[in-house]
Amino acid sequence: MDFTKVVEKRRSIRRYKPDPVPEDLIKEILESARVAPSASNRQPCHFIIVKDSEKKKALGLREWAAEAPVIIIGCTDSSLSPTWHLVDFAIAFEHIILAATNLGLGTCWQGRLENETIKKVLNIPDPIKVVAVTSLGYPAESPEPKARKALSEMVHYEEF
Ligand SMILES: Cc1cc2nc3c(=O)[nH]c(=O)nc-3n(C[C@H](O)[C@H](O)[C@H](O)COP(=O)(O)O)c2cc1C
Repeated sequence: MDFTKVVEKRRSIRRYKPDPVPEDLIKEILESARVAPSASNRQPCHFIIVKDSEKKKALGLREWAAEAPVIIIGCTDSSLSPTWHLVDFAIAFEHIILAATNLGLGTCWQGRLENETIKKVLNIPDPIKVVAVTSLGYPAESPEPKARKALSEMVHYEEF
């Protein structure tokens, strides 16, 4: 898909078809995170792929999210990049979201999480932090675009 179309078509998807996501597509999506830039190339991100139904249920996610065929848990090692790990994470995670959109898959970035539950269920050691999760699967809904501010409300030329 043309890049502009990918950016335009992306939506947060909160209903998924039960169809499994082929492993080669998951790999392609993760590859887009691997090549993402990071401050001083420190690459602080880790991603955990969860498909097991019982494990998905145990993560404390919303019901619609746990029903998606795949959950990607995004983490960072903040000790590798104390200042920039969250910026690096956001870049890599958005690569994942856009790569999935490009392949016709739906995602929903989730930041409100039961972090300690997730760490326990997935054996995530300290100092690794859980930052966000996305559900991944074929969309079973086509939400309309949500309103955004006009460019004139957010873009400033020459001075604020
Ligand atoms: C940092 C971040 C955290 C978010 N956390 C949640 C969340 O916890 N639960 C949820 O359902 N959606 C979450 N979202 C999705 C937003 O609600 C959504 O992107 C926004 O409403 C715009 O809708 P759209 O993604 O369909 O364009 C999050 C998005 C971002 C970027």
